[in-house]
Amino acid sequence: MITKLSVNVNKIATLRNARGRNVPNLVQVVKDCEKFGAQGITVHPRPDERHIRYQDVIDLKNIVTTEFNIEGYPSDSFLDLVLKVKPEQVTLVPDAPDALTSNNGWDTITHLDYLTSIIKKLKSQNIRVSLFVNPEVKMIEGARMTGADRIELYTENYASIYPENKQKAIMPYMIAARVAQNQGVGVNAGHDLSIENLRYFSQNIPDLMEVSIGHALICDALYLGLEKTIGSYLGLLGS
Ligand code: PXP
Repeated sequence: MITKLSVNVNKIATLRNARGRNVPNLVQVVKDCEKFGAQGITVHPRPDERHIRYQDVIDLKNIVTTEFNIEGYPSDSFLDLVLKVKPEQVTLVPDAPDALTSNNGWDTITHLDYLTSIIKKLKSQNIRVSLFVNPEVKMIEGARMTGADRIELYTENYASIYPENKQKAIMPYMIAARVAQNQGVGVNAGHDLSIENLRYFSQNIPDLMEVSIGHALICDALYLGLEKTIGSYLGLLGS
């Protein structure tokens, strides 16, 4: 099974917003990412629109020809946007409005009823739903109970432990992925995955469906260019 590479293009919007014009052109970058082999595009609109704006998400609806994944906290305005755009996948993230970046997974037990009702609404519109979670068995079981199709494993801990002890870093993810898959829940992963740590992750998590990568990939593209970088990441995923 191939693991899809979904390129998170938030950093492109951040760069564009720094100057108030349309350089770099987000739509063009998205088209190029797909041309260079990305099998998905991820955006994470935040309430202050400091990187991806709500209008970007609308503009990209008819541009993305691979898999469009919209991530974010399910506020009313986020859900209105998602229901209007109807992407292939939405990844629900429990980030506070002022969070610098996503910094935790859902407590799927505490928020079971809340998540269940949102997921039901999204799935009724044929939108696949993934829940951002830490690699904890209890949280995975909670995610299954909400009716989520997939989980996205929050890989920040993996990335930070990897340089000292990769076996220790991967272990909770191997267990969590197996628990999810045994319960019929698909497994995605993301956050701080990079050219250094991606291969080991994908080799040790069988049937990993998708990785969503932004920061490291865009940083590598400064040196290697976008085409070579995407090619390298695809190679690390074995495709
Ligand atoms: N997954 C989620 C839920 C995220 O919030 C982010 C960052 O926006 C990513 C994946 C991608 O993380 P990174 O930019 O570190 O690759």
